[in-house]
Amino acid sequence: MPGLTIGDTVPNLELDSTHGRIRIHDFIGDGYVIIFSHPADFTPVCTTEMAAMAGYAQEFKKRGVKLLGISCDDVASHKEWIKDIEAYKPGTNLTYPILADPDRSAIKQLNMVDPDEKDAQGVNLPSRTLHIVGPDRTVKLSFLYPACTGRNMDEVLRAVDSLLTAARHKGKVATPANWKPGDRVVIGPSVSDEEARKLFPDGFETADLPSKKGYLRFTKV
Ligand code: BEZ
Repeated sequence: MPGLTIGDTVPNLELDSTHGRIRIHDFIGDGYVIIFSHPADFTPVCTTEMAAMAGYAQEFKKRGVKLLGISCDDVASHKEWIKDIEAYKPGTNLTYPILADPDRSAIKQLNMVDPDEKDAQGVNLPSRTLHIVGPDRTVKLSFLYPACTGRNMDEVLRAVDSLLTAARHKGKVATPANWKPGDRVVIGPSVSDEEARKLFPDGFETADLPSKKGYLRFTKV
């Protein structure tokens, strides 16, 4: 995939938003930020995604994660659209900023262009990209969905919890398939059994597999 990907520093773009001018690195500060794009304002799937994200905002805030939307219309359009989003799900209060990118320059730099989806003028729209950016301003994880598929915010939250768990343990643990907070994690391949005994005093369990290589080790954190 060309362009911004895992490990890359997010460009320090300065853009208008529904909360005024935003410089992305200043917005990141020293925390995690989710930057997520939408094909266009006043479109059906995007409206449901924006409302869903607003509903999860408190959960992200509890984890110290800020939200930053982006859609390729101007701020005046975004502000009108927010009225629809809040009306669609009564009780919704959309508190996160939405960046404006009417000339589509930011979505190119953020690797959020959908090559298949075009507006009435034939100009490419953004895909449903979502970058989880760390305090060091690098991309930790990206989702790349087409216009036809709305994202699952439970999965976004689960991915955040996984990243935060791995970071808290300095990359010595990882989360297995379908992991949820509270489940056991796996011990990373770079950690020897000797180190694992020191790091996880409550112990760990090694799966007994035909290869006998002992690489699948579970522990509680
Ligand atoms: C939508 O948000 O529903 C949408 C946007 C662009 C193309 C297709 C669907």
